[in-house]
Amino acid sequence: MRTQVAIIGAGPAGLLLSHILYLRGISSVIIEARSQSYCEARIRAGILEQGTVDILRAAGLGARMDREGLPHHGIDIAFDGGIHPISIEKYDGGRQVMAYGQTEIVKDLFRQHVDNGTVIITDAEVTAIHDIDGISPQILYRREGKDHTLNCDFVAGCDGFRGVSRKAMPTSIRNDFDLIYPYSWLGILAKATPMNKVVIYAQHPRGFALQSMRSNDISRLYIQVDNDDHVDNWSDEALWDELDVRIGVKQNRGEIIQKGITPMRSFVSEPMSSGRLFLAGDAGHIVPPTGAKGLNLAIADIALLSAAFIDFYCAESEVQLQEYSSRALRRVWKVERFSWFCTTLLHTDHRHSEFEKKLQRADMDYLLSSDAAMKSFAENYAGLPVEILPDL
Ligand code: PHB
Repeated sequence: MRTQVAIIGAGPAGLLLSHILYLRGISSVIIEARSQSYCEARIRAGILEQGTVDILRAAGLGARMDREGLPHHGIDIAFDGGIHPISIEKYDGGRQVMAYGQTEIVKDLFRQHVDNGTVIITDAEVTAIHDIDGISPQILYRREGKDHTLNCDFVAGCDGFRGVSRKAMPTSIRNDFDLIYPYSWLGILAKATPMNKVVIYAQHPRGFALQSMRSNDISRLYIQVDNDDHVDNWSDEALWDELDVRIGVKQNRGEIIQKGITPMRSFVSEPMSSGRLFLAGDAGHIVPPTGAKGLNLAIADIALLSAAFIDFYCAESEVQLQEYSSRALRRVWKVERFSWFCTTLLHTDHRHSEFEKKLQRADMDYLLSSDAAMKSFAENYAGLPVEILPDL
């Protein structure tokens, strides 16, 4: 089999890349290790930057998002017994964010690919990526006990943090940068009307907590726990009580339909391309979830990468492909910085000295009392600009 762009991974990044290429007449095939139902059921992030919303709309994927998504004009911070709003709209020129689950975006994309007639090979294990330095790389994969080869012009590695693509980058040029935090998130999805119309980030001496939502009847809530904690240590009752204490706003309680622990990590692998292999999304970098940036960062990578492929196939220029890694990484590091900032600002780190605790309070005090600080926060939260967007 042969295609122009072979895409590894059917998450939001790989699925969106394939769709944008389709719109510009460029062929692609997606290879995915799991089943479609597994991809569609993964519960992940839910806050979309304005730029992410704009790209989805421009790609013709905005209809259900605009019907069912919940636009947010700002966020709230719970701190010292009070609720402190930060208006994104006011401080970032009318821009907003949107609550719409990654799960829903993946479902919308799979549906779109049925219309596009995209070849999506699921349940396929990539065993090797060959010849990324030549003009015709090959992907070897195994499906139902048989080995196959996919020949292509380019490989897009969109297979997440644990995928094979990053491992195919030559070790001689690869540099990994890693930061692990001393806490995790215990997250729940509950059949309960969200108490607040916008996301509440709570800083509390007992630890961070977050109230978010997926719809008007489904709440998404998190609390900071130790890295060695386990969901079985938390009864539903204890969880709701802890959320009420930390957020300082009594939550509507309802049936908990999903419970899980998310570790917190910041990670960047440089460069994001070598020869004809290009990494996008979690394959190249991950952020702790505090600033809601993981999915948005993946979509921003895809904007740059799809624009570069369009430039190659439609304008016969390799310049954007050559510049993809450095251009993507400049934005990635700024988003890493913001995610790290939100994480350290809002969590309780038991290793901290009294001096560091005072600094953390000063950081919060500054954010909540300075127009300049709120403007900077709003600009980052609604999303930094992406230098080049695909012409759709
Ligand atoms: C979520 O809704 O899952 C969510 C919201 C905000 C975050 C992280 C996750 O910062």
